[in-house]
Amino acid sequence: MIVTTAASGDPAEADDLARRFGLRAEPRAGRTLIQVLADAEGPVLVLAARRADLYENGRAFRATAGMAALRLLRARRGEPDPLVAAAALKPGETVLDATLGLGNDALLAAQATGTNVVGLEVDGVLAAFAQAALTRLPADPAGRIEIVNADHREWLRTQPPRAYDVVLLDPMFRKAGDAGPLFELLRAHAGHAPLDEKTLHEARRVARRGVLVKDAAPGDELRRLGLTPRLSRRSAAIAFGWAESLTALPAG
Ligand SMILES: C[S@@+](CC[C@H](N)C(=O)[O-])C[C@H]1O[C@@H](n2cnc3c(N)ncnc32)[C@H](O)[C@@H]1O
Repeated sequence: MIVTTAASGDPAEADDLARRFGLRAEPRAGRTLIQVLADAEGPVLVLAARRADLYENGRAFRATAGMAALRLLRARRGEPDPLVAAAALKPGETVLDATLGLGNDALLAAQATGTNVVGLEVDGVLAAFAQAALTRLPADPAGRIEIVNADHREWLRTQPPRAYDVVLLDPMFRKAGDAGPLFELLRAHAGHAPLDEKTLHEARRVARRGVLVKDAAPGDELRRLGLTPRLSRRSAAIAFGWAESLTALPAG
């Protein structure tokens, strides 16, 4: 993917995204958007001061908070968010979101904990798109999410035990229930490998309290992994599974 700027954009941001997420930064060099798209072979991310858009196969995707905006608003009004409730996230806890995607769940986790969230994303295009969106959102909570372009299967192995309070895993299990243009972008780029037992084991080692795994209801993938699906009351399409930390200390 190429990353470039609109007239109001900052080339330093393009360079930063290219460096961190394995993309190519191209100066706009006075070209029109149509020329840039015609010259490019793959997707193009265009950074303006207040918005960023990804162009691919004749379609444009605006980098926004998407569904997270509504969830953040509801949570601020005191309505429990399904993911935050399922993980019982508390202020001060540290969260590793090992499947960042568009960063929706990471935003809710950052708001609930008030601390930093590390988000792993295997695909560089999605990681850059999510970063471009977060950069344009209010710094609280978006500025507290640190995106790392990495495969969690390898990255988790490099971490010490009990490095984060909670690890979130939301692989591409879900087939039905997710719609909308941003989900199409996600589906086109995301890593689709199913979650394996070894990775869940590593996540449980890295978690101080436990691992929250998200699945489509009724939770067949959770059962495959030996977890008990808990259906979300607010979101009928989602099932959550909780795996205790391997290294949980006895209470008291
Ligand atoms: C269902 S989406 C997550 C959506 C996310 N929870 C949100 O709220 O936006 C799954 C994401 O995990 C990423 N992913 C899949 N396998 C991965 C891996 N091994 N390491 C890191 N990310 C991975 C996919 O590329 C995809 O973006």
